[in-house]
Amino acid sequence: MKSRNADDIEVRQVAAAGTEELMTFLLAHYYPEEPLTAGTHPPEPEAADKEFLLSNVPHGTCFVALHGGRIVAAVVAGPKDIHEPEHMAEEAVKYAGGKWGTILHLLSAVETATDVCRRFNVPSCLHVHALGVDPELRGRNLGGRLMEAVAQRGRELGHQLISVDCTSVYSARLVQRLGYQLINTLRYVDHLDASGQQLIRPPPPHESVQTFVLHL
Ligand SMILES: CC(C)(COP(=O)(O)OP(=O)(O)OC[C@H]1O[C@@H](n2cnc3c(N)ncnc32)[C@H](O)[C@@H]1OP(=O)(O)O)[C@@H](O)C(=O)NCCC(=O)NCCS
Repeated sequence: MKSRNADDIEVRQVAAAGTEELMTFLLAHYYPEEPLTAGTHPPEPEAADKEFLLSNVPHGTCFVALHGGRIVAAVVAGPKDIHEPEHMAEEAVKYAGGKWGTILHLLSAVETATDVCRRFNVPSCLHVHALGVDPELRGRNLGGRLMEAVAQRGRELGHQLISVDCTSVYSARLVQRLGYQLINTLRYVDHLDASGQQLIRPPPPHESVQTFVLHL
C-alpha cells in the first residue's frame, strides 16, 4: 500500500522486513518525547515495550511516512476486543516493578475506564499505540495522514471503531482535528501508586491521557 502527495511524502505500510528501521525511528523520534516514556525511569524503553510495539507489524496496521526514502513519521496500531481490560490488567501485573510495568499500570487503568468494545458494543477495535513525527517535519499534518492510513486499514479489516489514548497534548489536538470523539480523561496527578504517590510525571505541557474514538 502506497500513497504519494505533491510534497513528495510517501505513506507506506510497514512489512516484516521493515521492523528494524521502524524501531530505529521510534527510538529517535517517538520514545524520547512520548510523555509516559519521558515521565518514568530510566529514559530508555524496556525490551518488552519495544517487542510489544513491533508485534503489531504482522497485522498490517503500522505505517510510515517516507521523505526521500527516509522515515519521517510512524504510527503503530493493532486490534483489540472485549477482553482487552482483563488482558491489560494481567500484563500490568506481569511487568510490575519496572518502567514498562508502570506504564502498563496507567494504560490498564485507562482501558478499564474506557472499555471501548463493550461501551460501543463492537466485537473489535483498532487501537493506535504509538505515533511519532520527526521534529523537523512537524506541523505538516504527517501525523494526521498516518492516522488516516490506519483508519482506512481498519475499515478494510472490518473494524467498526478506532481508538487512541493520547498521552500528549499534541496528539490530542491532532485527533480532535480529525473528528475523533473524546471519551475519557485521566490526569497524571490523579494516577497514584499504593502509597498515594503520583506514578508517572510527564514534563509540561502534558497533563493527562485522553482517550478518543472514531467510528469507521
Ligand atoms: C504527536 C505528534 C506526532 C504530532 O506531530 P504532527 O503530526 O506534526 O502535529 P500537527 O501537524 O498536529 O502539529 C500542529 C502544531 O503543533 C506543533 N507540534 C506538534 N508536535 C509538537 C511537539 N511535540 N512539540 C512542540 N510543538 C509540536 C507543530 O509544530 C504545529 O505547529 P504550527 O501550527 O505552529 O505549525 C508529535 O508531537 C510527536 O511526534 N510527538 C512525540 C511522540 C508523542 O508524544 N506521540 C504521541 C503519544 S500519544
